[in-house]
Amino acid sequence: MVIADLSDVLDEVFSSIVRSRIFKNRDILSPDYIPDKLPHRENEIKRVGSVLAQALRESRPNNLFIYGLTGTGKTAVTLYVLKRLKQKALELGVSVDFVYVNTRQRDTPYKVLSDIASSLNVRVPFTGLSTAEVYTRIVRALSRRKGVFIVVLDEIDWLVRRKGDDILYKLTRIGYDLPPGSTKVSIVGITNDVRFVEMLDARVRSSLGEEEIVFPPYNAEQLRDILWERAKQAFYPEVISDDVINYCAALAAREHGDARRALDLLRVAGEVAERENSKRITIEHVKKAWQQIERDRVIEVVSSLPLHAKLILVSLLNLTLLQPYTTTGELYTEYTHYAKSIGVEAVTQRRVSDLINELDMLGIITARVVSRGRYGKTRLISLAANREAIVNALSRDPRLSMLLRLNR
Ligand SMILES: Nc1ncnc2c1ncn2[C@@H]1O[C@H](COP(=O)(O)OP(=O)(O)O)[C@@H](O)[C@H]1O
Ligand SMILES: [Mg+2]
Repeated sequence: MVIADLSDVLDEVFSSIVRSRIFKNRDILSPDYIPDKLPHRENEIKRVGSVLAQALRESRPNNLFIYGLTGTGKTAVTLYVLKRLKQKALELGVSVDFVYVNTRQRDTPYKVLSDIASSLNVRVPFTGLSTAEVYTRIVRALSRRKGVFIVVLDEIDWLVRRKGDDILYKLTRIGYDLPPGSTKVSIVGITNDVRFVEMLDARVRSSLGEEEIVFPPYNAEQLRDILWERAKQAFYPEVISDDVINYCAALAAREHGDARRALDLLRVAGEVAERENSKRITIEHVKKAWQQIERDRVIEVVSSLPLHAKLILVSLLNLTLLQPYTTTGELYTEYTHYAKSIGVEAVTQRRVSDLINELDMLGIITARVVSRGRYGKTRLISLAANREAIVNALSRDPRLSMLLRLNR
C-alpha cells in the first residue's frame, strides 16, 4: 500500500520533469560551464591575452596576478584565453601547454605539485613522496621539454592562508632550476580576496605580480546582458522575460555584481517554476529562489564556523529573542556562560570581538558602533541572516543541539 503510493508520487515527479518546458539545457547555467561568449570582458580578455601571447613566440610570458571579487569572470576569462591560446599554438606548430589547479579544492602543496606533475605525464602516488621529490620530478620533466608551460593557480589565497607562500616562491623561481633551452614556465595566480597581496612575502609579490590585472564588478546592465546570453540557450523561448532577467540582474548587482550569484538565481528560479508546473518563470519564482539560495548559503557558512563563533551565535539567538539587539558586554557574559555549560574554556573578550567582526563580514550578524557619551563606545549587535536557517545549521553540531533545545 505504502509502496504503491510512493511509486505513484515518483511517477508524477518524473513525468513532470520530463514534460517540463522550462529548461532546454540546464547545464548552460551550471557554475562550471565555460561560455564561448563573455560579454563585458573584452578588455580583460585582451589584457590576459596580450600577456600570454608571448608564448606563441616561444618566449616566456610574464607571470600574471589576477584579482577581483567573486563572480567577476576571472576563472572564465582565464580558461577561455588559454583554450584559444592553445588552439592558436597548434595552428602555428609551437608547443604551449597549461595546467589549471584550483587550490581551494587541491588544498596542499603536495596536491598542487602532483596535479602539475600529472599534466606533464609524470606519475606521482597519492602520498609517500616528499613535496621536494615531486618538485624534482617536475623539474626533470620540464628540462626534457621545450616550449612554454603555463601554471594557473586559482583561488590561491586558500592555499597560502593555510600553508604559507613557499610553494609560490618555489614555482615563480622554477626557471632558475631549469637548464637553458628547456621549457619556459610562467605562473598565473588568481584570487577573489583583494587583500590577499598583503599576505604575501615581498619577493613573491614582485615575481608573481610581473603583470597585474584587476577585474571590476559588473553593474546591473552588464549582468543583464550576461544573463540574456546564457538564458537564450538554457531555457525554451517564452519561459523568460525582460522583467525576470532585469530583476535577477538587479538583485545580483546589489551583491557586489557577482555573475555567479545572478546565474544561480536564474537557474534556481527555473527549478522553482518547474516544481510548480509553471509555463514561465515569474518574479515570484525569483523571490523564492533568492530566499532558498540565501538560506543554503547561511546554512553552509554557519555549519563550517569554529566552535566559539557558533557559541556566540547561540548566545545572540537567545539575547535577541525579546529585543532586536544586544551589546558586546552582554553578549560576552552570555557567551562565557554557554561555554562553561558545555565544558569548554571561554576565549578572551578580544578574541570574541574578532569573531564578531568575522560574523559581520560573513553577513550573519550586524555589529554597529554607537557612542554612549561618557561611557565610551559599544557595539549594538543583531542578527542579519534568517534566524531559522541559523538554528538549523547550529543544531547539526552535536555539541550544541542540547543548548539549542534549552533555548526554545
Ligand atoms: N562576462 C561574462 N559572460 C558570461 N558569463 C560570465 C561572465 N563573467 C562571469 N560569467 C559566469 O559567471 C560565473 C562566475 O564567473 P567566474 O569566472 O567563475 O568568476 P570568478 O572566477 O571571478 O569568481 C561563471 O559561471 C561564469 O561562466
Ligand atoms: Mg574563480
